[in-house]
Amino acid sequence: MAVNLLLGLQWGDEGKGKIVDVLTSKYDIIARFQGGPNAGHTLIFDGHKHVLHTIPSGIFHKNAMNLVGNGVVIDPVIFKKELENLEKFNLDIKSKLLISRKAHLILPTHRLLDAASETSKGKAKIGSTLKGIGPTYMDKTGRNGMRVGDLELDNWKEKYHALTEKHLNMLEFFKVEIEFDLQELEKEFFGAIEVLKQLTFIDSEEYLNEAIKNKKTILAEGAQGSMLDIDFGTYPYVTSSNTTAAGACTGLGVAPNKIGEVFGIFKAYTTRVGSGPFPTELFDEDGETMGRVGQEFGATTGRPRRCGWLDLVVLKYAVQISGVTQLIMMKGDVLSGFSTLKACTSYNYQGTEISHLPYNIEEHNVTPIYTEFKGWKQDLTGMTSAATMPKELNDYIKFIEDFVEVPIKIVSVGPDRKQTIIR
Ligand code: GDP
Ligand code: IMO
Ligand code: MG
Repeated sequence: MAVNLLLGLQWGDEGKGKIVDVLTSKYDIIARFQGGPNAGHTLIFDGHKHVLHTIPSGIFHKNAMNLVGNGVVIDPVIFKKELENLEKFNLDIKSKLLISRKAHLILPTHRLLDAASETSKGKAKIGSTLKGIGPTYMDKTGRNGMRVGDLELDNWKEKYHALTEKHLNMLEFFKVEIEFDLQELEKEFFGAIEVLKQLTFIDSEEYLNEAIKNKKTILAEGAQGSMLDIDFGTYPYVTSSNTTAAGACTGLGVAPNKIGEVFGIFKAYTTRVGSGPFPTELFDEDGETMGRVGQEFGATTGRPRRCGWLDLVVLKYAVQISGVTQLIMMKGDVLSGFSTLKACTSYNYQGTEISHLPYNIEEHNVTPIYTEFKGWKQDLTGMTSAATMPKELNDYIKFIEDFVEVPIKIVSVGPDRKQTIIR
């Protein structure tokens, strides 16, 4: 049996959490493969709203196993809070949640380094979520990191203290004022480690490959989005992991020939939170309407998300990098009432029209060229079948499908699990 992937195709927050939750009933295992508590995945059902950061979005289903893969970075403190938030739902987490021994740990000093790095950058800051993601992945690739499996060794505290010592020295290099009480942070951290240790640590690549042999169905849940990929995103305004399909192979230990369907998820418009180029960004009433109607505030940081028109150059690029086989379009309901919709179909790049994503997409290099569409007035949020969708929405969908040459199989028309139309 193959492993299916679900990936964000824009700058994150496409609605991955919602769709993983919708699809979980078809899967035996849901596995996160990269990112960490920088992610905020929202699920809404039965009148409850849940935001997950590190725990896979399949956790609410009775029969699915949930795995935090080796490519993920875990902050025990945030993880403990996530577990506490789930306590009231009696989910039997201990038997349903597995953690890879090879996943790296976010230490309190990683968070401090993130803050110091951002402060020292001033205006050029990345707009990081300040969860310590960059410094933790730096320690991973620098071969200094601490892994979950280390917690099973007797000398893990020595390792911890040596790494923390190094971080404290590094903090001084930044020459910025960061206030912290290490003793307090460590108390919280060590307490959270004890909670983490009550969960099951496994050699997850072995577990997944056995599961594949035994014909189990597996869905890999991406975090962030393709344009935040460390290699293919809008570098340096990106996150520190591979958010594209290849990241699922390295982040889970699953070979490329074991990947089946690649679900690519995108909003019917575009949002971005944090700094960095965003060619179709709107600074007018239309952008304001998208933000207000779409309630575009970060699920992790609460920051307002920047909003703009759909960028099909970006979408096509992301589809190509990850080999997307099916598209999922989110938040079409937010566009109800716009008399005209726009989608960027090429760029004016330094005076020449181009249809691919160039190296530089900053404002002074790129101006989007738009195709216009007639909007629809109908409220979509109560719709349950493709047959009732307005003609203008169908035209918009058809245009996107033809442009990127991949079918849109799911249209989401509201945040609730039930507000999902399968085409
Ligand atoms: P993720 O990080 O990709 O899981 O996405 P987030 O949870 O950060 O952001 C998506 C937001 O849009 C959440 O507040 C969802 O509840 C909401 N949402 C998801 N799908 C839809 C939809 O089709 N329509 C509307 N109006 N909201 C949606
Ligand atoms: P989900 O999984 C949207 C952005 C941050 C910042 C940049 C780097 O919910 O889609 P980091 O903390 O990773 O060093 O921040 O990436 N970012 C996200 N934006 N959704 C996310 O995750 C994000 N995770 C990180 O805002 O610009
Ligand atoms: Mg999110």
